[in-house]
Amino acid sequence: MIFEKNILCIGAGYVGGPTMAMIAYKCPQYKVTVVDINPARIAEWNSVKLPIYEPGLDKIVKKARNRNLFFSTEIAQGIKTSDIIFVSVNTPTKAFGAGNGMAADLQYWEKTARQILQCSESPKIIVEKSTLPVKTAQAMEKILKSNGNGDQFEVLSNPEFLAEGTAINDLMNPDRILIGSHLTDKGVKARDELVKIYESWVPKSRIITSDIWSSELSKLASNAFLAQRISSINSLSALCEKTDADITNVSQAVGMDCRIGNRFLNASVGFGGSCFKKDILNLVYLCRNYGLNEVAEFWEGVIRINEYQKKRFALNMLTAMFNTLAGKRICLYGFAFKADTGDTRESPAIFLAKRLIEEKAELIITDPEALKNAKENLREISGEVTFVEDPYEAANDCHAIAIVTEWNLYKDLDYEKIYRSMIKPAFIFDGRNIIDHQKVFEIGFNVYPIGKPALTHF
Ligand code: NAD
Ligand code: UGA
Repeated sequence: MIFEKNILCIGAGYVGGPTMAMIAYKCPQYKVTVVDINPARIAEWNSVKLPIYEPGLDKIVKKARNRNLFFSTEIAQGIKTSDIIFVSVNTPTKAFGAGNGMAADLQYWEKTARQILQCSESPKIIVEKSTLPVKTAQAMEKILKSNGNGDQFEVLSNPEFLAEGTAINDLMNPDRILIGSHLTDKGVKARDELVKIYESWVPKSRIITSDIWSSELSKLASNAFLAQRISSINSLSALCEKTDADITNVSQAVGMDCRIGNRFLNASVGFGGSCFKKDILNLVYLCRNYGLNEVAEFWEGVIRINEYQKKRFALNMLTAMFNTLAGKRICLYGFAFKADTGDTRESPAIFLAKRLIEEKAELIITDPEALKNAKENLREISGEVTFVEDPYEAANDCHAIAIVTEWNLYKDLDYEKIYRSMIKPAFIFDGRNIIDHQKVFEIGFNVYPIGKPALTHF
């Protein structure tokens, strides 16, 4: 089969895998190859059980794999034969040296740039898919131009806005596709090539273009705005608990103002995920770098409230259970950072589990998809934690349940049966406000929602 174009994606993670699967699925005329330095990950992409759990992903991968979608470890070969290269490697927070704990760690990104330069033999469009600090494209260009062959490359920014758990729908029907380019003839030509790919399934009106720097900043800004909404509502949930107001009513009343909108206003045990914290820290670091301390502090507040919310939830558990958790059996319902994913990166469950162990509680953790990652996250304290797949078995003989992830499964459990199997007085802490609080209270539980008055039998 002769393909119209060869597309390569470097980085077969939560973004590279699904986004490329969607492009291959929608554009059979292009050959799409996804490469990674991690051979185990590539082997999983080529197997029956994909390396990430994402509803709907299996179907799309199965349709396109080995037709025009390929997963491989042959990075150099992939670079050589490609026309367009998406770079979707991880850009975690730096854990050493200058900017430790704040700046983006660009080592994986830079290695990729150098490898592209080393292996390229023909002109290519390089697309930043990873989330990066503003002006990273400039650094990439400097590397790519360093051997005098710079004119071969045109760098574009095309940030990804998918959310885990809904990635396939987000990719199939994106709110917008953003493409940043240089506004030169060459830049615009490259941009139009990328527009053409997305136009295969995304309406033209949803494909927007800009200069590269605005595109890079728009990605950081979008995540910062979303996280800010959660911290805003979470900050008010603390006030609700003091004043007998109900955060669900507040968020409904606020969200019905169409200038504000009703999404991302669910109070919770705190936001998690690999990106919100890292991207805001990155924004804060950038602002400090440019001497914009007030702006940095504004955004830092979003993270501070999130840390506060996680601590507050753990402290509420301790206070409600008579100020001692030592020897008590506590069951965590959910470990993933949100429902419909097995991803646990920065999950509030990690903080909570460690905090409860510090209080010498015995922990039982259940989750339909995230137990493998949970075991990895809690490796240093694994002797003190039991992992159980079945939520009924997990709660058996426990003093308390804490709902950490909003899996639908936890809404519909038989809480009478669970209550009967638990030690009394039995407690339930709903870190997601997903169960019927009045109903479980009537069953006999002492119920502690987020941002609502507790329902207790004392
Ligand atoms: P990930 O860790 O799941 O995947 C990154 C992959 O890149 C890994 O498999 C790693 O082995 C590979 N890699 C690293 N260096 C490499 C190299 N030199 N050559 C080949 N492969 C290499 O990360 P992710 O969640 O997919 O995120 C990737 C980027 O996308 C990040 O910048 C992130 O901020 C951004 N992003 C993530 C999401 C999300 O939902 N996870 C959404 C939007 C944007
Ligand atoms: C987020 C953004 O939504 C994506 O647009 C972005 O592409 C992605 O980050 C990224 O750059 O990585 P994701 O982290 O996968 O996506 O999931 P979200 O749905 O945003 O949830 C993040 C966290 O906020 C979760 O822990 C979730 O439970 C929590 N959350 C969300 C709340 O506590 N309340 C809400 O109302 C919504």
